[in-house]
Amino acid sequence: PLVSMKEMLETAKANSYAVGQFNLNNLEYVQAILQAAEEEKSPVILGVSEGAGKYMGGYNVVVAMVKSLMESYGTTVPVAIHLDHGSSFEACAKAIHAGFTSVMIDASHGPFEDNVATTSKVVELAHIHGVSVEAELGVVGGQEDDVIADGVIYADPKECQELVERTGIDCLAPALGSVHGPYKGEPNLGFKEMEEIGSAASVPLVLHGGTGIPTKDIKRAISYGTSKINVNTENQIQQAKVVREVLAAQPDQIDPRKYLGPSRDAIKATVIGKMREFGSSNQA
Ligand code: G3H
Ligand code: ZN
Repeated sequence: PLVSMKEMLETAKANSYAVGQFNLNNLEYVQAILQAAEEEKSPVILGVSEGAGKYMGGYNVVVAMVKSLMESYGTTVPVAIHLDHGSSFEACAKAIHAGFTSVMIDASHGPFEDNVATTSKVVELAHIHGVSVEAELGVVGGQEDDVIADGVIYADPKECQELVERTGIDCLAPALGSVHGPYKGEPNLGFKEMEEIGSAASVPLVLHGGTGIPTKDIKRAISYGTSKINVNTENQIQQAKVVREVLAAQPDQIDPRKYLGPSRDAIKATVIGKMREFGSSNQA
């Protein structure tokens, strides 16, 4: 069934595993991720950035595509459709009205008081609709869609606790050194702060920039209350690799099913690997 992230993440936190958010880019992503979740008996979060939503034809198209595929697959595991890095109240409202079951309001770039105000407004609307809300503090490095962050800003533990208490969000993404896209060398995550935030803030934590984080760091993050891990780049890398291989081996190939089909299997295999690593397999 289509659900919000609230219960999903509270259950994950209580049982010390994390649910993966895998970003959608087109039809094949929805297919691969839903197939992986059902096979693994894992809850799953489908992440949709504003840019990817536009690319696929709008939020209504995304919701219709997810719903009808779930119907034809007979999906039994819990699935959330989540707006990733929503840039404004308006963007979140649009997603909520289109049928998204969860939204992220990313108001972390401006002053703290503005973040509290915008996030509170989103929570008020979202909760009327039974939609869960994720907020962010600090700055995740790297680039996502058109949002480029130069330099990483670590979330302040006191502000994290205050944001949670004043807004009523369902989960919190504190930026602690993670980066969108590949890491240059090993990631250097702020585990001291993560532990502090995890015990002070009562909500599940979210880790952005899941691509390229070593398993030992994933496990440690989960032990400090991280219950949602976002992955996008890794699926894109594996998909592109297979498309390149197929087209290199068959230069005359023009049937999209012949290169998108195998690359869809690569996305599915990658997602299955992450679900096992995050511990969400066999939890649905
Ligand atoms: O919000 C999406 C993510 O944080 C994805 O990060 O592309 O580095 O895996 P990634
Ligand atoms: Zn992110």
